Amino acid sequence: MKRIFSGVQPTGNLHLGNYLGAIRNWVRLQKDFGDCLFCVVDLHAITMWQDPKQLRRGTREVAAAMIAAGIDPKRNVIFNQSQVPAHAELAWIFNCVARLGWLNRMTQFKDKAGKDRENASVGLYAYPNLMAADILAYKGTHVPVGEDQKQHLELARDIAQKFNNDFGVNFFPLVEPLIFGSGTRVMSLRDGTKKMSKSEASDYSRINMTDTADDIAKKFRKAKTDPHPVPASPKEFEGRPEAENLLGLYASLADAAVEEVCRRFGGGPFSKFKDALAELAVAKLAPIQDELRRLQAAPDFVDGVLREGVEKARGISGPVLREVHEIVGFLRL
Ligand code: AMP
Ligand code: TRP
Repeated sequence: MKRIFSGVQPTGNLHLGNYLGAIRNWVRLQKDFGDCLFCVVDLHAITMWQDPKQLRRGTREVAAAMIAAGIDPKRNVIFNQSQVPAHAELAWIFNCVARLGWLNRMTQFKDKAGKDRENASVGLYAYPNLMAADILAYKGTHVPVGEDQKQHLELARDIAQKFNNDFGVNFFPLVEPLIFGSGTRVMSLRDGTKKMSKSEASDYSRINMTDTADDIAKKFRKAKTDPHPVPASPKEFEGRPEAENLLGLYASLADAAVEEVCRRFGGGPFSKFKDALAELAVAKLAPIQDELRRLQAAPDFVDGVLREGVEKARGISGPVLREVHEIVGFLRL
């Protein structure tokens, strides 16, 4: 059976990278897959310190943003990770399956821990094991994410395979990453070689889902470019990461081929192109933002969706965990 699982952290604002790289694809996939699970991963969030009030607010906001973007809460399971015990429990078992050598290769840990690795939390290091547990507690098969999560999903496959081998079973499926569309790697507006991220200090580096039309126009106007005119073909992207990113963003938002966007704006000044890009982004985000505002004024509705999601998620993962206990040899009395 095919089953979609994906997650997003409730840390700070959702940005255009989260939307184009992940959430918009989830909206598109829900039509072809039954019971997709979309998780607000609050356990992952606390691998770096979070203000408790902000964490609670962020959790509601991310759930609301998923619904506002078009994920149907009636057909899908939307829930927060901490409220379903299977995640932390299976993660522990996977801590005992994954090897130190595997985790040592994870580039996200190296990026997030920075130079002061000794001071990173053990949770940040074991983060990919929890991510594997998220998916496999539901025997998830397909995981739509942005490009940056590819290495973690390869690790999830290794964990599933080693678990199956170690216990001589064919229990966990091998997870398939679904990385598709033109927004799988949206870059910072200040530096075309770095990905757009919630944790980047400058707010000018990203377009937040909650930015006003004025913010969006200002951020694109200030976005870094180069002194040359807009490239007339993707062949001219070489050495011009910022131009590549902005043209890619336009293509992604317009659902058009990047060649077409180059043809349309190529040779012209960036100022004109940036105005068109801002206008397009505002037009695409406005309906989501309206819906998000409406949902934020109705926290009881969002809480109800999460509550129902938690129930359903427990109902699916509970029996999987019971089988895991059986396989591993935990005595059940
Ligand atoms: P996170 O905000 O790290 O929880 O990421 C949530 C989802 O958004 C994941 O599927 C990421 O791969 C995706 N994502 C995050 N940043 C970007 C980006 N700059 N470009 C494309 N996808 C992204
Ligand atoms: N690590 C992912 C990110 O930061 C979020 C995540 C946690 C996730 N668990 C997951 C994504 C399971 C897909 C499947 O983007």
